Amino acid sequence: MTQAASGEMTGPGEPLWPGHQTVNPMSDRRFMSIPPGAIVPGSLPRFRIYVLLPRGQYVLWAKEGNSVSPDQLARLSDGGLKEVFIDLDEAFKYEEYLESHLGHILEHQGPSDEQKAEIFSKVSTNVVKGAFETSLGLGRMGPDVVQRTQAMIEKALIFIAESKSLQALTKMIGHDYKTYEHATKVLWFTMAFLRDHQEVLERIQPDYPTFDESQRTETLRQCGVAALLHDIGKAFISPEILNKNGPLDQVEWEIVKRHPLNSLAMLVDTDVPPFVKMAVLHHHEDFGGGGYPMSLEGMNITTLARVLRIIDVFDAMTSRRPYKEPVPALKAVQIMVGTPKEKNNEGLSGQDDRDQGMRRCFDEELLRKFIVFLGNMKLND
Ligand SMILES: [Fe+2]
Repeated sequence: MTQAASGEMTGPGEPLWPGHQTVNPMSDRRFMSIPPGAIVPGSLPRFRIYVLLPRGQYVLWAKEGNSVSPDQLARLSDGGLKEVFIDLDEAFKYEEYLESHLGHILEHQGPSDEQKAEIFSKVSTNVVKGAFETSLGLGRMGPDVVQRTQAMIEKALIFIAESKSLQALTKMIGHDYKTYEHATKVLWFTMAFLRDHQEVLERIQPDYPTFDESQRTETLRQCGVAALLHDIGKAFISPEILNKNGPLDQVEWEIVKRHPLNSLAMLVDTDVPPFVKMAVLHHHEDFGGGGYPMSLEGMNITTLARVLRIIDVFDAMTSRRPYKEPVPALKAVQIMVGTPKEKNNEGLSGQDDRDQGMRRCFDEELLRKFIVFLGNMKLND
């Protein structure tokens, strides 16, 4: 939320605190609301923080580079303040701050679960955006991009894999399809699903025969990297093709079909494990054959790729696209399990043909598990 500085002049009343500074109400500066819980006690934000008085006047509450003490934060919460503000021009500093303090913010009591979910989505989306932009510039994935991705997932691991975060995820179903947000949702679904399915996780990483807790966590983290970066090869596809409002022609379709290979090419020199690289390469292969880029079949497609195939399609179908309305979650599941179009009494108006006849695309056992998992999320349709 943003708003322009406005309101009346401060009267001659009591100072809020010694030396407090107000913003000139004639200024055209714009402010962005942030939850006080996002401010970590003892940290040194590089941005200024303001409070908004009932009279609509912004007052500087913390200078940039100053440590925010637990007492200061306690006074805010004692005062019942639900939001503080930053200068919109400093939003990028706030985003950097969120990324570097993500673990603390997500694991502590300050923000509500909804605010945590919003903060996680913002950071994750920025990380993917950064990965796309850097990769496009370099033509490959720099090691720092992989490290940044891994670090972000590490910090968010507990939160995104825990059940209370799922409610926030359900609220994102039906939003517009945007490549970076899609990647965040695929990450979130993948981590939450695999957290509940250790037997699948073990098949994903067969190199760990004992599969102790640290290996489990490491595998989950690497699955997150695959989920977040599976479409990184789309960085080379023009937005006109990616966002085309209508069917793709043959040349455009051939360009789109190259993106798993491009994703692999960008990851090939990095230290992500082979199962991540293979998942990225295979995430459009169909269990029944005929997918791309290699038209593999069945168990020749790696386990993580089969998981991503399901989650990728589910999120794409339930998101609004330039050429179609979002499909409700339960209807998406019907289509994925292969409910014939003519037997669907409610019809599928606005449904794109690209979503039809999907049963053969998926590993049936994994799809069944995913549907049970969705059922436990108590999706609202
Ligand atoms: Fe893809």
